[in-house]
Amino acid sequence: MTSRDEALALDRGSALAGMRGRFDLPPGVIYLDGNSLGALPVGVADRMAEVLHDEWGRGLIRSWNALPDGGGDWMGLSARVARRLAPLLGVAAADVHLGDSTSVTLFKTMVAAARLRPGRRVLVIEPSTFPTDGYIAEGVTDLLGLELRWCDPADPVAAVDEDTALLSLTHVDFRTGAMFDLATVTAAAHERGALVQWDLCHSTGAVPVDLTTADADFAVGCTYKYLNGGPGSPAFAWVAPRHQSDLRQPITGWIGHATPFAMSREHVPAAGIARMASGTPPVLALATLDAALDAFEGVTIAALRATSLSLTDLFIRLLDERLGTGAGVEIVTPREHDRRGSQVSFRHPQAYGIVQALIARGVIGDFRDDGDRPGIARFGFAPLYVRHVDVLDAVDQLVGVLEGEEHLDPSYATRNRVT
Ligand SMILES: Cc1ncc(COP(=O)(O)O)c(C=O)c1O
Repeated sequence: MTSRDEALALDRGSALAGMRGRFDLPPGVIYLDGNSLGALPVGVADRMAEVLHDEWGRGLIRSWNALPDGGGDWMGLSARVARRLAPLLGVAAADVHLGDSTSVTLFKTMVAAARLRPGRRVLVIEPSTFPTDGYIAEGVTDLLGLELRWCDPADPVAAVDEDTALLSLTHVDFRTGAMFDLATVTAAAHERGALVQWDLCHSTGAVPVDLTTADADFAVGCTYKYLNGGPGSPAFAWVAPRHQSDLRQPITGWIGHATPFAMSREHVPAAGIARMASGTPPVLALATLDAALDAFEGVTIAALRATSLSLTDLFIRLLDERLGTGAGVEIVTPREHDRRGSQVSFRHPQAYGIVQALIARGVIGDFRDDGDRPGIARFGFAPLYVRHVDVLDAVDQLVGVLEGEEHLDPSYATRNRVT
């Protein structure tokens, strides 16, 4: 049996020891939901106060340009955040744009990708993807008169043929935490002449994604999970530089114009990635994200990945040791490192009740439905602020919930609006 001392020793030896101090976490809570909404980094609240009081309150509209005191320059925010994000994606900052939600970004990149392959009329997507990816793909194929093809997640490239314009996949599955081999899948789809897009919502900030080495075409991702940008923070789009000069995204607003303040009648797309912009950037949300990314200063992707794997390994080992097979808990996350993101999920007939009973004990995870099959309890391990000792304490609490049958409490028969 793994002891608490062993967990504490793992924390002392961790490359990210002490990073938790960069976050403002409530006492008495073990937070295992950073795969859904990241924690609040220290310093964000002060930066927000500055942006509100100084840049908006005092600078007023002048803050769109750089202010003499070094503040403002709201128009440059997307590019400034892109510079901090790019190393986590293995790309150049000049190829990243931020500003819309993930859903809207998916719409823009899917249309743009289809337009880059005019002779091909199929968009391929996996049925287990996050619902919004499927809904947007349906909307895009309907709008453009294309065909939507669902692939087998076990072999997505099998559905890609000479008629496929785009293969769009989610790198880490939101339910199970299973991960595709980004480079291998990209190369195989390219052999069939298709473009490849990756949804990196559950990857960025915890899992290495080297888009440049993999030679991918498009990537999108949210910034409110492992990047801690705050609820509803803006998503990013990355477009391979080779596609940018021909890129025609569908929401051709004035901020993506080559010269927005020329106020001309004709839309002339800006050069490079700037043409992905549509309307006025969400300044407050971008400034929050900018401040939140301070938490990644000096942190390497290798350290993030090593710590994440150590945490998820420990959680799986403890579930095996302390629950065995009798508790009805079925781990659905792959045990192989190269197939696992930064979360561990298990299936259980009362998974919702288990998650709620754990929350009542101060251990926060979440629940996702899975059609006709028993639902899934998800636990995210954000390597910057989750410690090995938290993992051990969380499993102790889980054992307590199951032994006391707390998950069967009738109040859990009705689900909250957000699960
Ligand atoms: C894989 C994936 N794509 C997209 C989204 C959500 O998109 P949006 O930011 O538009 O809500 C999520 C949200 O959890 C997600 O997990």
